[in-house]
Amino acid sequence: MSCNIVVLASGRGSNLKAIIDAINKGKIDAKISLVISDKKSSGALEIAKQNNIQAKFFDPAFFETRRGYDIYIAERIKKENPDLVVLAGYMRILSDEFIDAFEGKLLNIHPSLIPSFQGLKAQKQAIEFGAKFSGATVHFVNKELDNGPVIIQAVVPITLEDTPETLSEKILKWEHRIYPQAIKWFCEGRIKLEGRKVIVENAKYGELPVNPALEDF
Ligand code: GRF
Repeated sequence: MSCNIVVLASGRGSNLKAIIDAINKGKIDAKISLVISDKKSSGALEIAKQNNIQAKFFDPAFFETRRGYDIYIAERIKKENPDLVVLAGYMRILSDEFIDAFEGKLLNIHPSLIPSFQGLKAQKQAIEFGAKFSGATVHFVNKELDNGPVIIQAVVPITLEDTPETLSEKILKWEHRIYPQAIKWFCEGRIKLEGRKVIVENAKYGELPVNPALEDF
């Protein structure tokens, strides 16, 4: 049975697009039933509409608290009965009630090798720190910000010439490969969680630059 996915996004939506493309090419047996944004101008809403996916903007300004907003969208998401909830550039910190509702089927992508450079502007943080490598991480969401169990990471070297913009571009190319891959593994039921350690069944571990190795992307 095909995997039912709800996506939350705030920004331009390039990760959403990569996931949609992977589904349309038949690489992932899944359907995105709903895309939600907290930003009316989000490119992700446009991309969803162009692909005939239900797209909803919910305005946080109508809610007195972050918790109130999160409970509202959690209820809306539950109506879709999703197998998986994907954060793709969703810029709001989620309240505990939201995480409790979807823990174990809630994924995020972060543009660094967590636990380094958690939070906002991860690429700028990496450059200012003088790190020689950064990268991208797909992880389960738990109640600690950008600190959940890691599914897959891609390493990107940092050059002396890199700016936050050039590094973001390089990392983004990997994001567009590792996110669809992690989603595919999840939908195939190959992801097992032992404490905070994620094991992808039958995946190949131990090589650079992506660990575990990409299979389809
Ligand atoms: C990505 O860099 C992602 O890692 C971060 O926000 C950005 C979203 O980009 N969480 P897009 O909206 O998917 O293009």
